Amino acid sequence: MFEVHPNPQPRSEAERAAILANPGFGQHFSDNMALATWTAEQDWHDREVSAYRPFQLDPASAVLHYAQEIFEGLKAYRHANDSIWLFRPEKNAERFAKSATRLALPVLPAEDFLSSIETLVTTDQAWVPGGGESNLYIRPFMFANEVFLGVRPAKTVTYCCIAGPAAAYFPNGVQPVNIWLSTRYVRAAGPGGMGAAKTGGNYAASLVAQQEAYENGCEQVLFTDGAERKWVEELGGMNVYLITADGKLITPALEGTILEGVTRDSVLTLGTERGLQIEERKIAVEEVLQGIDSGLITEIFACGTAAVINPVGSIKTEQKSYVVNNGQSGPHTDGLRRTLLDIQYGRAEDTHGWMHKVC
Ligand SMILES: Cc1ncc(COP(=O)(O)O)c(C=O)c1O
Repeated sequence: MFEVHPNPQPRSEAERAAILANPGFGQHFSDNMALATWTAEQDWHDREVSAYRPFQLDPASAVLHYAQEIFEGLKAYRHANDSIWLFRPEKNAERFAKSATRLALPVLPAEDFLSSIETLVTTDQAWVPGGGESNLYIRPFMFANEVFLGVRPAKTVTYCCIAGPAAAYFPNGVQPVNIWLSTRYVRAAGPGGMGAAKTGGNYAASLVAQQEAYENGCEQVLFTDGAERKWVEELGGMNVYLITADGKLITPALEGTILEGVTRDSVLTLGTERGLQIEERKIAVEEVLQGIDSGLITEIFACGTAAVINPVGSIKTEQKSYVVNNGQSGPHTDGLRRTLLDIQYGRAEDTHGWMHKVC
């Protein structure tokens, strides 16, 4: 149970309305946050939802030095009848637990994870935008908060969940993304590394490649495997799918080096329902580049909670730019995107039991 001590000084209705009118992404946060503390002696305790506020961190707090930290990302959607829903939050709870185990952090029980989110979203329901494809982005995270210098798992850990309104990802229509094929940098080591964990270190490792992408006129990076730089893994914040002219929907298999995306998993189901033949397997970079050139690969898209499904317009290497489907989104990409959004925003029947009502 997360006890609610609501923010005594919430933003005024006018301030909130001004933010909700133009929320952007990751810039504004709701009035409250969820918190819980874990210590080796007391397990999880002090669960509460209270005013959004800065942390006081000791300069020797372990996370600042050894990056023992994990996070999650999911959204709350306001439906036409004003009810508020989450999409498959139990998958995020499961992944949060797996990330915790990999980072030697304590597992937050799934019921606490879900309860922290439900209590925060219910308390701050006025912050869930309505209309269009805007939503409330929810960011649960956990970090080592013991004051010590030394490399061992911390004995004091803070769990927190914040939330902030987010505008529709593509307010002016879907924009295909151009991706940079990184062969110099990898985001994650091979098996045994932490590529499958949602931990800050993986994102820190990706930033220099992201910078390289911008310098080459691309918005995102396609990462390859750590050992051979031969196999396609994922983008910096999204999983990747190929569609072929003969009706295959192909994505890299989960081998512990990429994030197990909730959207990726949902697309496997929706793709099957569209009659596509699913292949989860190793994909060689060469296969992708040749497939684009030969016309066998007709569509490529990236998927994740933030952008839902984002068509890939081109893949750029040091040598050449490989343009996919004339730089346009394709029919399967559009169809999968529409189906998923219709389920999330309550415009289509939730035949898979994916939606979770909050209030
Ligand atoms: C590295 C990475 N891969 C894939 C994803 C997509 O995961 P999901 O669909 O659960 O948002 C994300 C986003 O969370 C990510 O950061």
